Amino acid sequence: MRAPHFVLLCRAGFESECGQEIVDHLGQKGVAAGFEGARGAGAVQLVFFGARPASERARLMPPLQTLIFSRQLIEVIGVAETPDSRDRVSPILSCLQDFTAPLPWSSLEVMARCADENEDLQRFVRRFASPMANALRRAGQLSAARTDAHPLIVIFSGFDSAILGQLLSSNRAKTVDGVPRLKFPADAPSRSTLKLEEAWHTFLAPERWYDYLGGGKLAVDLGAAPGGWTWQLVQQGMEVVAVDNGEMDSALMKSGQVIHLRADGFTFRPSKRVDWMVCDMVEQPSRVLDLVADWFEQGFCRYSVFNLKLPMKKRYQEVVTCLDRLQARLQQAGLNCRVRARQLYHDREEITCFVESLS
Ligand SMILES: C[S@@+](CC[C@H](N)C(=O)[O-])C[C@H]1O[C@@H](n2cnc3c(N)ncnc32)[C@H](O)[C@@H]1O
Repeated sequence: MRAPHFVLLCRAGFESECGQEIVDHLGQKGVAAGFEGARGAGAVQLVFFGARPASERARLMPPLQTLIFSRQLIEVIGVAETPDSRDRVSPILSCLQDFTAPLPWSSLEVMARCADENEDLQRFVRRFASPMANALRRAGQLSAARTDAHPLIVIFSGFDSAILGQLLSSNRAKTVDGVPRLKFPADAPSRSTLKLEEAWHTFLAPERWYDYLGGGKLAVDLGAAPGGWTWQLVQQGMEVVAVDNGEMDSALMKSGQVIHLRADGFTFRPSKRVDWMVCDMVEQPSRVLDLVADWFEQGFCRYSVFNLKLPMKKRYQEVVTCLDRLQARLQQAGLNCRVRARQLYHDREEITCFVESLS
């Protein structure tokens, strides 16, 4: 494959979905592109076919928040050959000389992206960051005084070459690896609590956080036990109906904000409209999607966060089919809704979706 124009970071094992998605997006704009991504590398290399200036390629990249499987977009500025184990710094410095960017870089991020968990490479990358940063500083190419985050990114997928990249200034995730830094709350009943918290950080504009979550809202949690998601809703001051045949965490029930119903999440409906319906039931994606569409069609909720567990094969196709069907059902019902989807850091074989009724 030719030198890539972009590297897209994704969950390890989802390289094919990440690549298919970006190629699909570009194809819809009539732009031909191809991708390569070794399974397990957690990264996809994207090549645009046909000559285009870098500025045009950057403009053609879809907004990161519209992509489901990409965590970060990295624009490639060079590829350095680094076969000499005694000096991998010099080839990178000399490769950077050809690049005319507004220098210096604000920081340096060195990462390993390899198909197998290559511990030697991981160890090398950890040790390499410091001498590389020192060399960049001596060359006047790295300065902490630069306050806007404009990192130089060095990606090794083996020892012999490194991809050098940068983030696009207005189309990027907050952290370089695209992974949010969330702390597990000690008193939350399950680790999946972080999924709902990450979903909110991903889908809700921070300045509208209170509109979405504050003011003592009402929520229904389908498939709630032991209560990680309910715990998040309670933290926001909500009254929650938790639907599950399983046991809820006893400390959470003492909050007095939760009613536990041992019922089927697919047939339960609230007696009046609620603000939030969240759903973490492990079921076929099409079944969950129909449930969510029913809730919006019947006006039972304003917002929803739900998981779609992905099948073993044709995962990208399944996601596209499901989301198209959801959009079609909402449109047929005459509803004005915003639908977003993303594979979160805390998701495994699944994606998380958000629907907001705008009417
Ligand atoms: C992944 S767990 C939910 C974890 C929960 N979100 C948390 O943060 O603690 C899935 C839950 O869905 C429940 N579930 C599965 N099918 C259900 C159904 N038809 N009705 C109600 N609950 C269901 C299971 O009992 C299980 O507790």
